Amino acid sequence: MLASQHTVAAVLASGKAGETITINGWVRTKRGSKAVNFIALNDGTCFDNLQIVADVNSFDEDLLKKITTGACISVTGNLVESPGSGQSVEMQASQITVFGEADPETFPLQKKGHTLEFLREIAHLRPRTNTFGAIFRMRHHLAFAIHKFFNDRGFYYVNTPIITGSDAEGAGEMFRVSVLDAKNPPLTEDGKVNFEEDFFGSESNLTVSGQLQGEIAAMALSKVYTFGPTFRAENSNTARHLAEFWMIEPEMAFHDLEDNMNVAESFLRYCVSYILEHCKTDVEFLQKMYEPTLVERLQFVIDNPFKRITYTEAVQILEQSGQKFEFPVSWGADLQSEHERFLVEKHFKSPVIVTDYPRGIKAFYMRANDDGKTVRAMDILFPGIGEVVGGSQREERYDVLLERVNEQGIHPEDLWWYLELRKFGTAPHSGFGLGFERLMLFVTGMANIRDVILAPRTPKSAKF
Ligand code: 4AD
Ligand code: MG
Repeated sequence: MLASQHTVAAVLASGKAGETITINGWVRTKRGSKAVNFIALNDGTCFDNLQIVADVNSFDEDLLKKITTGACISVTGNLVESPGSGQSVEMQASQITVFGEADPETFPLQKKGHTLEFLREIAHLRPRTNTFGAIFRMRHHLAFAIHKFFNDRGFYYVNTPIITGSDAEGAGEMFRVSVLDAKNPPLTEDGKVNFEEDFFGSESNLTVSGQLQGEIAAMALSKVYTFGPTFRAENSNTARHLAEFWMIEPEMAFHDLEDNMNVAESFLRYCVSYILEHCKTDVEFLQKMYEPTLVERLQFVIDNPFKRITYTEAVQILEQSGQKFEFPVSWGADLQSEHERFLVEKHFKSPVIVTDYPRGIKAFYMRANDDGKTVRAMDILFPGIGEVVGGSQREERYDVLLERVNEQGIHPEDLWWYLELRKFGTAPHSGFGLGFERLMLFVTGMANIRDVILAPRTPKSAKF
């Protein structure tokens, strides 16, 4: 048996002097004198390392030589009280096995202080740094907090399909899924690719959002949520866009836009509190290294209600701001990231929920307002991030939905099942989508979305 009953996290939290245990991990540093070696061992279970003390005379010289930064080892030894400050115990090694050496000449993490850009080039090794260890532990805790929030409030977790025939956002930014021969596809009589001969018998793609199928579930289970990967072939090479990202999408029957905003706001606040409570050491490290106001920013979101304004009010504020924007502001045009950031960071200095956008710039499924011009949309904007949540009350009226579908040039036949949900027992309902990596950016204080996911997929880049 190889598996140890122990982790560095557990040993540092509650290890008792006198215990003999085995622990496995990677060497962060080794230093020492002629008589003793001090090995800092990290197994990723927590930020801190376990100090291993090895008497040089008790070990083979060749073995000790193999213990260099990056090497993977297993150590058996006795826990003793640590004379050094900070840590409760350290380990006096009696037996060491080297699982994997890391040649100091070629191991890229031999030295500290690499740039994040460089670490992106070695994404297979970066989780072994302090920064990425902290980020990936936080990612786990954030995911767990999300499930806990919904579970505790009576939502059911549903898994919506990854492969779909529908374009939920109607933006045409989809990755095609096909088994047809790309060089020589079967053609229809009018020269188009004949997808009837494809695997699914019709055009299929990777989902951009689980919402439409989430609505199927909400129309039976009342409150549901999805949490899965979504894919967008948009060519936005920015620090906030991924081609593959994870989205959390609650969908709630019997909720109007205000209920929706209330859920979203308490949800975000819950997630941020959970991180502050459960990831203290990691947050403090990231604050020290990257974002001096991190804890303050997180606390601010917990303590202050989000500012709620309509799109029309937002446009007025922007027009009257006297600010020069790269993209002009005018009623009917989408808010650009520079506009969102102005509202959040300069004008309100708080998270902002913008509602009731023009119907022309939002998806077909959003509920039409009586003014004939706007829809019951809401976007939540965060400092440093911009849009973190996009949601809406859904159009539950069959006729109005059909009109919207046609208005946006979508074939109603393609959405027959979605329309039919409005034919049989329709219900007012709402939901939203939270970009998991966008929230990760916020809670970690990192600046680039490529640094909060294990293996980022962006235009021209899908290695690792
Ligand atoms: O605003 P979006 O496009 O909304 C939807 O997809 C709805 N169907 C959600 C719903 O109501 N169920 O996307 C939702 C969120 C955005 O607010 C943003 O946080 C994130 O998903 N997002 C991205 N995150 C990373 N990379 C991208 N390319 C993203 N596109 C959207
Ligand atoms: Mg959006």
